[in-house]
Amino acid sequence: MKRIFLLLVVIVAASAVTPVFAQSSGEFRSDVKGPPYPWTNLNFSNEPGTLRFAIVSDRAGWPRAGVLERAVDVLNRLQPEFVISIGDQADTPDDETSVPEFDREHNFLDGIVGKLTMPYFYVAGNHDIYNALAARQYHKRRGRPYYSFVYKNVLFLVLCTEDPPPDQISTRQIAYIQKTLRANPSVRWTFVFLHRPWFSPKEKNHTIWKKMESMLSDRPHTVFAGHWHHYEPYTKNGRKYIVLATTGGDIRRKAPQDTIFDEIVWVTLREKGKEPAITNLTLKGMLPWDFRTPISLDEKDNRQKRNPKERTPERKTKAAPKQGSPPRQSTSRK
Ligand SMILES: [Fe+2]
Repeated sequence: MKRIFLLLVVIVAASAVTPVFAQSSGEFRSDVKGPPYPWTNLNFSNEPGTLRFAIVSDRAGWPRAGVLERAVDVLNRLQPEFVISIGDQADTPDDETSVPEFDREHNFLDGIVGKLTMPYFYVAGNHDIYNALAARQYHKRRGRPYYSFVYKNVLFLVLCTEDPPPDQISTRQIAYIQKTLRANPSVRWTFVFLHRPWFSPKEKNHTIWKKMESMLSDRPHTVFAGHWHHYEPYTKNGRKYIVLATTGGDIRRKAPQDTIFDEIVWVTLREKGKEPAITNLTLKGMLPWDFRTPISLDEKDNRQKRNPKERTPERKTKAAPKQGSPPRQSTSRK
């Protein structure tokens, strides 16, 4: 009897210091006893098959200093599983004929994207492969300009619109696309990346795309392109085809102002999802935790009225990092 009494004392004492988890589910525990509960449900969005990746867009053509650097900083905080570009991230003038210039710009790009804490996939644009010399140099440095990979049973097909440069596709690449699609018939989604938006009738090589469109028609897919430096979404055969805006590239464009912005694109394909969710995250809206607004004029006036001798302290807005390619003199295009 004495032993039972002692045991009860121990249990009561332990329960006084250990929280009672009235609700638990997987990794979740709470001391809230209910119902009612101060939450809607415990269906956490943590399916292991869910895929989250980000895309960065054009930086070339008079890049604005610090924009891609800011995108890298934001991405390291958001933690997509990987980042893929849409081409034209190195600011090599497309009339350049020197290997040192190519390497200088690509070294500079690598210095920025090397800070990412997740993989970064290269896509070739017309500023990367602008002539035969650049094509050779690109191949030497980055490997194949068109390639594919499968991750979480999703096919990523990276095309090269400068094969050979400019603005062409080789029969070899078309054969590669056919072969790759045939080899991956049962992936749950296919994402295609190409720099020039050949899928738009505005592109002079629109006819090139028609063949690829028919190859993709029997599978769920989404296509991303860049090059125009303004945002333009299309729907083709019920699928999304998107021309992305910029991530630091030239914005002196004749396009509606609200389609010109710096962005990263966030793509989520849920394990049980039927359609990827695509969100444009404008860099203007992605503020660091320690962001401060400058003190408002009203607040300043009120403080000075209350105490005219008080000198209102000014807060400082955090400035964008002052980095960027050295300025160059050539006239840039897309
Ligand atoms: Fe381009």
